[in-house]
Amino acid sequence: MKILITGGAGFVGSHLADKLIGQGHEITVIDDLSTGRYQNVEHLEGHENFRLIIDTVLNDKLMEELIRETDRVFHMASAVGVRLIMERPVKTIETIFRGTDVVLGFCSRYRKRVLVPSTSEVYGKGASVPFREEDDLLTGSTDKHRWAYACAKTLDEFLALAHWKETRLPVVVVRLFNTVGPRQTGQYGMVVPNFVKSAIKGEPLTVHGDGNQSRCFGHVLDIIEGLTAVIENPDCFGQVINLGNAEEVSIRSLAEKAIAMTGSDSEIRYIPYEEAYGEGFEDMQRRVPSLDKAKRLVGYQPTRTLEDIINDVADQFHREIKAEAAMA
Ligand SMILES: NC(=O)c1ccc[n+]([C@@H]2O[C@H](COP(=O)([O-])OP(=O)(O)OC[C@H]3O[C@@H](n4cnc5c(N)ncnc54)[C@H](O)[C@@H]3O)[C@@H](O)[C@H]2O)c1
Repeated sequence: MKILITGGAGFVGSHLADKLIGQGHEITVIDDLSTGRYQNVEHLEGHENFRLIIDTVLNDKLMEELIRETDRVFHMASAVGVRLIMERPVKTIETIFRGTDVVLGFCSRYRKRVLVPSTSEVYGKGASVPFREEDDLLTGSTDKHRWAYACAKTLDEFLALAHWKETRLPVVVVRLFNTVGPRQTGQYGMVVPNFVKSAIKGEPLTVHGDGNQSRCFGHVLDIIEGLTAVIENPDCFGQVINLGNAEEVSIRSLAEKAIAMTGSDSEIRYIPYEEAYGEGFEDMQRRVPSLDKAKRLVGYQPTRTLEDIINDVADQFHREIKAEAAMA
């Protein structure tokens, strides 16, 4: 099959490209390399079934061409990461909403299967865990930019479901909970790579707030199993489906685990949210997915643990540090 992955030089998209190439599919990646990295797909360049196009999903003409000739679209391109969202709110909204509008519009015109990733952020300040797909969504006021990401993704969801409702576009929406693993950079405030990298370097690990807030982390390889399963199952069309891992850990214990597992003697520093993100930042205490729907529809069952994640991320950084040392 011909498969288009927008944002395919990013963290999740590049793992998806690896898996699909391995299955013999022809992969086209379009990525503007804003948060993605060429190195994530460098190993695929030269493969007869791989093509990389460095451009934006906002380029209508190109997107029409690419979508017309493909069989499936994984629309992974997005502005991503809390820090980026706080610093570039206009770009965040434009990239997310306009990008998805372009993709869905052409998928609808040419009747192509498409997967649109949303995020656990849409559950906002919802307090009844685990979060289920049919729950009410509760975000903050519009002067708090952190919610722009959640709201833009919510609008993406509405648009995807509207296409399904009006013309039965074969579209599936997945709400990804924190997804981590090799290739994710800490550059945009991603907590796991930041902690592991700091621990390996013997630098302090910075925890925002008191560290009692908890999260669930899914290994990227489990997540892409879910992504490839849902797009192939027509029962998933017109559905919103959580994907992640329900194992919960506080940010404080995550920091402790990263230190212990890397044999580090780093200390943990606690800083107020305002210091990290500016005045008016809001965070959630807990964010746990209900995975019942994914399990029921496609038998989704994550198999990798938090320890696997920390080990895999630490391996990546050890390799990078070694490579940097060899270059010096
Ligand atoms: N990683 C997570 O924990 C997580 C959680 C929830 C949702 N998601 C969603 O999953 C998807 C992939 O996220 P990721 O973690 O791989 O992030 P990422 O930043 O690594 O990937 C996004 C990719 O999109 C590219 N991109 C951004 N704007 C573009 C544009 N206009 N045109 C073309 N390419 C563009 C970036 O360069 C990057 O390669 C996103 O939709 C994100 O919102 C991820």
